[in-house]
Amino acid sequence: MEVITKINEMRAKVLSVKDRKKSIGFVPTMGAIHDGHISLMRSARSENDELIVSIFLNPTQFDKGEDFDNYPRQLNQDIELIRKENVDVIFSPGTEEMYPDGYCTNVRQDRITDALCGRVRPGHFNGVTTIVTKLFNIIKPDRAYFGQKDYQQSAVIERLVRDLNMDIDIQVCPTVREEDGLALSSRNKRLNLEERQNALSIYGSLLKARSMFASNIRDAKEIIEEMASVIKKTNHTKIDYISIVNARTLEDLSLINEKALAAVAVWIGNTRLIDNTILE
Ligand code: PAJ
Repeated sequence: MEVITKINEMRAKVLSVKDRKKSIGFVPTMGAIHDGHISLMRSARSENDELIVSIFLNPTQFDKGEDFDNYPRQLNQDIELIRKENVDVIFSPGTEEMYPDGYCTNVRQDRITDALCGRVRPGHFNGVTTIVTKLFNIIKPDRAYFGQKDYQQSAVIERLVRDLNMDIDIQVCPTVREEDGLALSSRNKRLNLEERQNALSIYGSLLKARSMFASNIRDAKEIIEEMASVIKKTNHTKIDYISIVNARTLEDLSLINEKALAAVAVWIGNTRLIDNTILE
């Protein structure tokens, strides 16, 4: 496994892979690798000749005052975890390499980014679309892998490749959870024991939504209220949003009469966690 930190070296490597007519699978990450990331790597490994994983903690997708400074950084440990997955290349450029002096171009997406996390994290998705476009331009993957855990991000990237005519197949892989249901996230590392327990209310609220939907309740407000009451029963939690939206457009639904997404963002102490489930 090679670890490459320079864009020109990464490009040379990609060229040699393309010369050999091999397909490239790509898994972008911000590091702090966990089994959710690993599941994307395994899907990508089985569907491509070469597998490239990027580790880049992208500053532009964090708003001021967000958790960029506290985000877990563990490059050496990440490299060892990724090595076990038969990955060909880790691309881990420094911030200066990706955003050199004078950098001033951004990729902005409208509409889908107005909903859910986009509403409460202004600028976040522009940071994501910009860095993912840059990574796609450097790595030129045939297929790129994203997690359903960040459903809105996956929807934004699917729209990005369609709108900008990028010839890349986007694969969205299921959310990997702990045995008790908590979705794996790099931010879980910051939870203390009590917070870890409180965080279970997030999954509890999704189960509530699913069971209400299964008993033919279609009124979004009614479901959202019940989801909120599951979370409010737990100490030290603060709801950022609970929404039920059209799973394609991410527009709010009042009546669930098409494929829908129930999405939740909750503060557990000082850590903001998100999760979602499809209602269909
Ligand atoms: P990061 O949070 O490191 O996540 C990298 C990928 O792993 C994303 O596609 C995310 O949806 C997926 N993922 C995270 N937790 C998961 C879980 N429990 N199950 C399945 N997949 C999971 O998302 C980002 O990084 C960044 O925004 C990035 C796309 C790299 C751009 O900077």
